[in-house]
Amino acid sequence: MIYQVYVRSFADSNDDGVGDLPGLLGRLDHLAWLGVEAVWLSPVMPSPNADWGYDVADYGAVLPEYGTIDDLDEVIAAAGRLGIRVLLDLVPNHTSDRHAWFVESRSSVDSTRRDWYVWADPKPDGSPPNNWVGSFGGPAWSLDEPSGQYYLHNFLPEQPDLNWWNDGVRDAFDDILRFWWDRGVAGFRIDVCNMMIKDAALRDNPSATEDDPFIMRMFGQRPVYNGNRPEAHDILRRWRRISADYSPTRVLLGETNVDTLENLATYYGSGDDELHMGFNFPFIEAPFEAGALADIVARTEALLPSAAWPVWTGSNHDVSRLATRWCGGDPAKVRLALLMLLTLRGTPVLFQGDEIGLTDREFDKDELLDPVGLRFWPYYPGRDPERTPMQWDDGPNAGFTSAGVTPWIPMADAPVHVAGQRAEPGSVLHFVRDVIALRRRSPDLLGGDYRALPAPDGAWAWQRGAETIVALNLSAEARRMALPPGPGTVVLGTHPGRDASPTGDALDLEPWEGVVVTSRA
Ligand code: NOJ
Repeated sequence: MIYQVYVRSFADSNDDGVGDLPGLLGRLDHLAWLGVEAVWLSPVMPSPNADWGYDVADYGAVLPEYGTIDDLDEVIAAAGRLGIRVLLDLVPNHTSDRHAWFVESRSSVDSTRRDWYVWADPKPDGSPPNNWVGSFGGPAWSLDEPSGQYYLHNFLPEQPDLNWWNDGVRDAFDDILRFWWDRGVAGFRIDVCNMMIKDAALRDNPSATEDDPFIMRMFGQRPVYNGNRPEAHDILRRWRRISADYSPTRVLLGETNVDTLENLATYYGSGDDELHMGFNFPFIEAPFEAGALADIVARTEALLPSAAWPVWTGSNHDVSRLATRWCGGDPAKVRLALLMLLTLRGTPVLFQGDEIGLTDREFDKDELLDPVGLRFWPYYPGRDPERTPMQWDDGPNAGFTSAGVTPWIPMADAPVHVAGQRAEPGSVLHFVRDVIALRRRSPDLLGGDYRALPAPDGAWAWQRGAETIVALNLSAEARRMALPPGPGTVVLGTHPGRDASPTGDALDLEPWEGVVVTSRA
């Protein structure tokens, strides 16, 4: 089970309103208590923060606001002592425009690093080299007036795309991987790894059709040439070989933000030669409905190579939190959603705050910090709503920072915090901890296969391994479902009073109730 720490919003140790590594160090006990096995730290490398860390200015250091590289070493060591491994966020598609490589690349068309980025001449009328639109909207090209050439940026103009056809770029990233692995990092979450390499001929993207997903229709094109190229797999295979040289426990977890499960499956290669794991965006973006989710899980299970390992997530720093988006703030639904994530076959990734049912905060325009929200307001508020600080206690700023300090982003002020829920045995937090503990001691839940079981409309049930059944009622009506013959016991449930109760041939579930049943005597 992996836990995403958005460092900037986790815990502030020095009262500057910004979360930092010593702050994380001081809260590792919470993660150990919860049963977390690995953390993924959102970018901690130096960055001018045009895109809040996803514009990296130096891949071999730590952003001073977060601490020093020694602090990071200490986090890795202390987490290791608690049985928690540390994954870093690696951003290989682009750098910051302040990165020394780009400064040099931009300095002259003859620079030895010119070809490290994607430069191209304007069309004869002076317009950009092709029709590519960036993932944040607007042309994916910016003109560099002194040289008269355009450079490519699939995101902000402050995030120039690296040219992955260049061997120097490949070698530089081999060194970056090794640099962090040598420091004890367990692996990387790899930002937009499906976009890393672009069509060498810079062909125009084709127009979107009415059947394409909303985002493509909005941008008017399918991103088939500015990303999603087959050659991205060569890079992942190269990294898998480097990771294997280190040890079989070094992990490559890709941000595979692709629209189909068929496409997702390709990033696992043959199952053992590309990513170890890739985020499942069709699942993240699905409605909280039994039919839709069960269908995605069944197709994921069928499409992934046999040795591949799925990933299940409901929240991250780019999407509305599951407590809001899937559950409308209802703690009963939050328990059900978390039970689902933690009992499917694969690795669950929880986002900080999921474990207390933290909800999004609504932002006014003048509060926005995310460049994406600023660009798309009022149609889309951007990603600030899910990036508010972790809520630790009922003190000022919910314990994220001291009284009188203004957090870098406003607090959600949601009525949930870790201390309160730790004191309350029936809380979401205790429930999540219990499910994680059950998962860690159950061979079925850890490694058993997934087989869907018949379930009525609005419900979803599956078997894991030989002895474990998970049954969820994702509806506001009670549901009855048949169970395979034989004795069974509820080992854990979302609703009070269920645990340890025997089951018969049928299982009655209350609205939004979920249970784990074992047939073990
Ligand atoms: C995905 C990251 O998760 C997101 O926060 C970022 O804006 C883009 N990639 C660009 O790096």
